[in-house]
Amino acid sequence: MKHTDIKAVFEDKSFLGQTVTVCGWVRTSRDSKNVAFIELNDGTTLKHLQIVIDKSSDIALDEAIKLGTSLKVTGKVVAGRNDIPEINAESIEVLGVCPPEYPLQKKRHTLEFLRTMPHLRGRTNTFNAVFRVRSTAAAALHEYFQGQNFVYVNTPLITGSDCEGAGEMFQVTTVGYDPTVKSEEEYFANDFFGQRAGLSVSGQLEGEMAAMAFGKIYTFGPSFRAEKSNTPRHVAEFWHIEPEVAFAELPDVIELAEGMIKFVVRKVLDNCASEMQFFDQHFEKGLIEKLETLISHEFGTCTYTEAIELLKKSGKDFQYPVEWGCDLQTEHERYISEEVFKKAVFVTDYPKEIKSFYMKQNPDGKTVAAVDLLVPGVGEIIGGSEREADYDKLLAAMNERGMSLDPYADYLDLRKFGSVPHGGFGLGFERLIMYMTGISNIRDVIFFPRTVGSIR
Ligand code: 4AD
Repeated sequence: MKHTDIKAVFEDKSFLGQTVTVCGWVRTSRDSKNVAFIELNDGTTLKHLQIVIDKSSDIALDEAIKLGTSLKVTGKVVAGRNDIPEINAESIEVLGVCPPEYPLQKKRHTLEFLRTMPHLRGRTNTFNAVFRVRSTAAAALHEYFQGQNFVYVNTPLITGSDCEGAGEMFQVTTVGYDPTVKSEEEYFANDFFGQRAGLSVSGQLEGEMAAMAFGKIYTFGPSFRAEKSNTPRHVAEFWHIEPEVAFAELPDVIELAEGMIKFVVRKVLDNCASEMQFFDQHFEKGLIEKLETLISHEFGTCTYTEAIELLKKSGKDFQYPVEWGCDLQTEHERYISEEVFKKAVFVTDYPKEIKSFYMKQNPDGKTVAAVDLLVPGVGEIIGGSEREADYDKLLAAMNERGMSLDPYADYLDLRKFGSVPHGGFGLGFERLIMYMTGISNIRDVIFFPRTVGSIR
């Protein structure tokens, strides 16, 4: 269907005086004695295009002015009030009628209400802005890594090994419940893969294999977590960016992560100016300034041990008590980034007991070369580490955890055949979008959120 994007009508002055055809959905309409006005939106911009209809013409208005109706409009582009382009309609074709029970009425709806209609909420200004930012950020991430000669790798979504080792995998099976099966081995032996399989929680292990061949790689795909964390920052299916770099140590990983965040934020501020103004106005006052400050300053860094001391000295009554060895909870992460550093901060060198088996063991025997990036308002958005490159040390860490070695035989091979210092991280894409938009619930930055008990 040949037509012009509404965004182009607003931005390209050469359309003035020309006859164009635009398509879109009616956002509002007003009917007066001699003229009617329709605000049309086609999703290409936050702005609605005003369509002016001379009622003495033979254009039928009955259906065309109803909220949510889809239209194809042809007419001349003229400069309206404040020189804003509008269209004097010459013909209007109703593409799809919309009855009055259409749930997106003119008033501003709450995000909670909009969550009850994932199939329609994309048609609101908020979701239009969120998904424009999301799309721009995704392109920027590719640009950042491609610009540094990283190879984009697609790691498998169905896997036989649990990367994080925390038992949070969704099972993949084609075999239904069968009470006659005697053991787990028998059950899985009859299954599609002849063994237990699940949806990947992270592409890291395969990413490491690729990095050991191509030097610098990144993945950008979905990861799945079956953890029953019903919080504003957890979903069961999230999008995960995971670079992995050979010949790299922890400071190199940190530098790459800081550069990436700054690059993406800059692109979004430059390419989504009206969307960011919208968020600044409606969701987080001072958002643009916050992001400009983020880009122009170095991120903070502190070790886990220093973070524990800061938390202990805080005098705060945290819900989860703080002791060296405890996992940092969101309230702790937010205190560190929001109240102590007041900016993004890398926390490094966590106790080995609370981190995954693959992290490089530090000489102190107690900590590993891990890094998390904490940001104000959200908490952790990145988790990464230098990897243990020594075969014996890695094997010992796996044995200490009682891990079965079979599914990791290939992974261990990497440490046998020309092992090198290497590392990488995982960025939760939705958490980055939350930080950049000021939207406080992860369910509102992914089109169809999957959470405990919800898969609409
Ligand atoms: O810290 P995580 O578990 O680290 C890994 O998976 C590593 N294998 C990454 C690597 O080194 N290649 O997860 C990384 C990030 C978190 O910081 C968070 O932003 C996001 O993934 N994440 C989630 N986002 C939304 N919902 C969930 N349930 C998430 N779990 C992790």
